[in-house]
Amino acid sequence: MLRRIVIAAVAVCALGTVHIQAQKNEFFRPKEVWNDTEGNPINAHGGGILYHKGMYYWYGEYKVGKTVLPSDATWERYRTDVTGVSCYSSKDLLNWKFEGVALKAITDDPNSDIHPTQVLERPKVVYNKKTKKFVMWMHIDSPDYSKAEAGVAIADSPTGPFKYLNGFRPNGTMSRDQTVFVDDDGTAYQFSSSEENQTMHINRLTEDYTKPDGKYVRRFVGMAREAPAVFKHGNKYYMLSSGCTGWDPNSAELAVADSIMGEWTVLGDPCTGPDAEKTFYGQSTFVIPVQGKKNAFIACFDMWKKKDLQDSRYIWLPMMIDKQTNKITIPWHAEWNLDVFKKK
Ligand code: DGJ
Repeated sequence: MLRRIVIAAVAVCALGTVHIQAQKNEFFRPKEVWNDTEGNPINAHGGGILYHKGMYYWYGEYKVGKTVLPSDATWERYRTDVTGVSCYSSKDLLNWKFEGVALKAITDDPNSDIHPTQVLERPKVVYNKKTKKFVMWMHIDSPDYSKAEAGVAIADSPTGPFKYLNGFRPNGTMSRDQTVFVDDDGTAYQFSSSEENQTMHINRLTEDYTKPDGKYVRRFVGMAREAPAVFKHGNKYYMLSSGCTGWDPNSAELAVADSIMGEWTVLGDPCTGPDAEKTFYGQSTFVIPVQGKKNAFIACFDMWKKKDLQDSRYIWLPMMIDKQTNKITIPWHAEWNLDVFKKK
């Protein structure tokens, strides 16, 4: 036995480094630490997923370092320095390879929107078939959240590097929590919490997806919806969103519409199971259509840890769509995988 240990030790020394193979993830385990393929916790908060040429890409806030609370805070402005937007790739949605920081903070210009001292949240990337560019939209803000703008960056490759173009108030209106949705006809829309987070604006984008084209509608007027996540099922459009309580959880809400800029009808809270009324302590960020499976969607939530934002966890849960009624629910699962969609 001793001899074997000695031989093993000599072999390790001879190789110089010990390569530890990270464990393969077989299940989604909401709220648990979720490691990437190198064994490091996935760091992609307020994220969004893009499917492109057989690969899923997960973009999110790369939150590194201490969480700080500005001394003048009148509400919960806990933040980390902006380091950029991370990118991970995966074929199976369970095992994610870190592709690096796809959009890096600009550290040498204190006036830049994406300087470490600012706020960068909820990045979402879409692919423009006409320009062949990957277009990233994000919420950018001042540390006191008074700027309320959207920022846009573009890249030639899904893993970046993304080049930051500019920040602005879409159609001259405030924009905080946001997402971008591309319809089947290729038209893209930015959904953003506007008017001091009281009303959702749906801004139609130009053909290259880098700007609003001037047409927008006010929806969910005075309903204070945040964290929009938009998806299409059948001929209907859905928006999952949260209420507006800083980093603290509240109830989720699902709404439906026949057309994106048309009228939206609130369906209610789709979450079921323990702590469903608090969205399981999460806040929506994206809904992933699972490729190659019919009626299979994953609802993605962030479980914010406001005093240590870097350690915020993820809650990914399957959406269940009743075949007869089309009713959508998001039941709690402590552990699950894509087989759940077979059982329907
Ligand atoms: C809730 C938003 O959804 C988050 O993205 C973040 O902006 C926090 N508010 C800040 O309190």
